[in-house]
Amino acid sequence: MQSTDAVVGKSELPEAIRSRNGQLEPFEWYAEMRRSAPVHFDEERQHWDLFRYEETNRVLTDYESFTANRAGSENATDDDGAMFQTMIMVDPPGHDRLRGFVNERFQPGTLREYQPRIEELTEEVLDQIDGENRFDFVDEFAIRLPITIIAELLGIPAERRDEFKEWSDALVARPEDGSESSIKRSQERMQWAQQQMGQYFAQLLEERQDGSGDDLITLAATTEELSRGEQVGFCMLLLVAGNITTTNLLTNALWCFEERGITDAIRTGEIDRKQAIEEVLRYRSPIQSLDRVALEDVELNGRQIREGDVVTAWLGAANRDPELFDAPEEFRPERSPNRHIAFGKGVHYCLGAPLARIEADVAFDVLLDRFETIEADLTDLQPLRSLYGLESLTCTIEE
Ligand code: HEM
Repeated sequence: MQSTDAVVGKSELPEAIRSRNGQLEPFEWYAEMRRSAPVHFDEERQHWDLFRYEETNRVLTDYESFTANRAGSENATDDDGAMFQTMIMVDPPGHDRLRGFVNERFQPGTLREYQPRIEELTEEVLDQIDGENRFDFVDEFAIRLPITIIAELLGIPAERRDEFKEWSDALVARPEDGSESSIKRSQERMQWAQQQMGQYFAQLLEERQDGSGDDLITLAATTEELSRGEQVGFCMLLLVAGNITTTNLLTNALWCFEERGITDAIRTGEIDRKQAIEEVLRYRSPIQSLDRVALEDVELNGRQIREGDVVTAWLGAANRDPELFDAPEEFRPERSPNRHIAFGKGVHYCLGAPLARIEADVAFDVLLDRFETIEADLTDLQPLRSLYGLESLTCTIEE
């Protein structure tokens, strides 16, 4: 099974943005690179970096020249030792088989039926917040909500939810500090959780082969074109690709709203919530970069990419390209149209984008309705190690 890093592409950061501030605010560097070296070869990382919308778009849509099967990403194996991959690593035509069966379930229209349930689950997560009027928004809300919702969609039985949450937590667990021993500990826990979850999914898939449920595990179990290993891989992929990304959309949204002082205007409806969330996706994209590997020699903006070269497309930089956006460095919650590519582009365009949008919309609707005031402490923010977001965000609320 792929690690989160392999899926979401946060490989080693370029030196220019390795510092705390560089990670929190890489945008000046992006702007400088867009102007001075839009297609740049980083000798240290031996990667190409792309900063403009045009080349990013090309690399993500031209799967014949740039494969999503990132170099070095391990294949998973099923119980019989057969190798398999999930949709996120496979180019067409194989990709269609791995994704086609589930597309319908993630259409906005289909998901809208779940909206009332998503509202209920959001209320339940808020009910469980620990710590009276002051709590960590990341740990107590932004991590818990997406896991709770995906557990429901997959059809994890209520009595196994606690265990499931323990595994999901371990999958996204961050090392306590940067020491080798703590990094090793968190990797071991992650492997343990992957194994436990893999076995658990295999068992549920077996039980649901008769097709009596209408959850995602039943759907996968009854899809004959997928091997059992691929069915397990699909379930795991939803967790890896869908949870921390949405966690960081929620966190980055509160960060942006508080930074601009517009939380109340969103509460009253003076600023449109859905549009403001789109602007968060553009302005502080949870996934800042995606990797591809060149399948042939290609010229990009006058530079020669060679077959086998790794190319990093900086979504966070493309999302601030002045060729596409007016005043790109300004957070404009009313921006429309907003053609950001925070969910990627081309055949791998995020399967869960409609779900993430509904979750974020419902989350802020319920949250701002329940709490009369919510204030986030924006001092001393710490960047997340895995995606683009924050380690924690302390909030003070009044009910
Ligand atoms: C704000 C939240 C999210 C962001 C920013 C995000 C972003 C992305 C991006 C950029 C890609 C493209 C990867 C690539 O081209 O290599 C992607 C793919 C994917 N995402 Fe999301 N995602 C989010 C939420 C979700 C959710 C909630 C789910 C499912 C429950 C999900 C499932 C997937 C899957 C399965 C793919 C692979 C699609 C394919 O390869 O065809 N994502 N996501």
